[in-house]
Amino acid sequence: MELKIPEHIKEIIPYEPGKPIEELERELGIKNSIKLASNENPIGPSSKALKAIEDSLPNIHRYPDGSGFYLKDAIAEYFNIKPSNIILGNGSNEIIELSVRTFLNPGDEIVFADQSFIVYKLVTQAANCRGVVVPLKDFTHDLERIAEAISEKTKMIFISNPNNPTGTAVGRGDIERFMGRLRDDIIVVFDEAYYEYVEREDFPDAVRYVRDGKNVIVLRTFSKIYGLAGLRVGYGFARAELVDFMNRVRQPFNVNSLAQIGAVAALKDKSHLERSREVNRNGKEYLYREFRRLGLDYIPTEANFILVRVENGREIYNKLLKKGVIVRAMNGYKLPDYIRVTIGLPEENNRFIEALSEVCK
Ligand SMILES: Cc1ncc(COP(=O)(O)O)c(C=O)c1O
Repeated sequence: MELKIPEHIKEIIPYEPGKPIEELERELGIKNSIKLASNENPIGPSSKALKAIEDSLPNIHRYPDGSGFYLKDAIAEYFNIKPSNIILGNGSNEIIELSVRTFLNPGDEIVFADQSFIVYKLVTQAANCRGVVVPLKDFTHDLERIAEAISEKTKMIFISNPNNPTGTAVGRGDIERFMGRLRDDIIVVFDEAYYEYVEREDFPDAVRYVRDGKNVIVLRTFSKIYGLAGLRVGYGFARAELVDFMNRVRQPFNVNSLAQIGAVAALKDKSHLERSREVNRNGKEYLYREFRRLGLDYIPTEANFILVRVENGREIYNKLLKKGVIVRAMNGYKLPDYIRVTIGLPEENNRFIEALSEVCK
């Protein structure tokens, strides 16, 4: 019997996950490939997080704490905010989805940048909302045009800061002017998945808007600098009323017990955080230098990945793949001349540059 799939679901272009690395190696007949494609932390998780997870393994027959009590407590203390202002998610991805499912009706409009995190578009379509996309300006969010794109129907705005896939960030002054222009019934979601990597000093303190009681959701994650992407745990800050509504919509056990325990330990491991920042900073400088030597344009980044111009991104991606270096082609983001590379360990960056200089000849 034929099913009537809703039109807005049929129109969703599926998210294309990368193949498992082992499968790629088998297909291409290569070994020891390196993955610089998903903006993961190349040094891995904190050893303290691993130890805490190992210690808790015998208890996985128990359901997790559905309220995330200890993790919220640890985050609250770390950021000097109340636990009632924190929502936990199965990765920050889930909180992106929760925010749309909780606060929007079908037909409502969500504004986001055309070249930004792909999940905004997916979630908008799945909720039968209308996505209003605004082009970037100089690879950065164009806050003027975002403000102009707002209509009566606009209920939410997503701003990835720093932006994936360009690595650019918007500064405090621009955000302040932008917030001053907005109707206060619009929820602004600041997606700060790469927050801990940011180096520019005028990066906005988006959590302040939450403390001031504005309709703002700030998203963070344990997937990037904390190196726990496989566990799926992210968090968001919002005023207590918004958190309360999102909690009504979320699945009761959305964050598993190992993720909660690992995240608490990871948050306390300051030296892992510092080391991760340093590896990223050094890798960034090395890659900038090498791109300049090779005559390749790149977009200066505030995150742990770099967009670099190679003329034919898809072709270069395929050639790098054959050399066992996995990066991202950017055709899906309408940036066909570019590839995005995650900053890796020194030896990985080295291997990427060697392979790149061969395939860009
Ligand atoms: C901008 C941005 N937001 C959110 C995420 C989702 O991260 P997670 O769901 O692993 O927390 C990513 C992951 O790549 C991202 O780039």
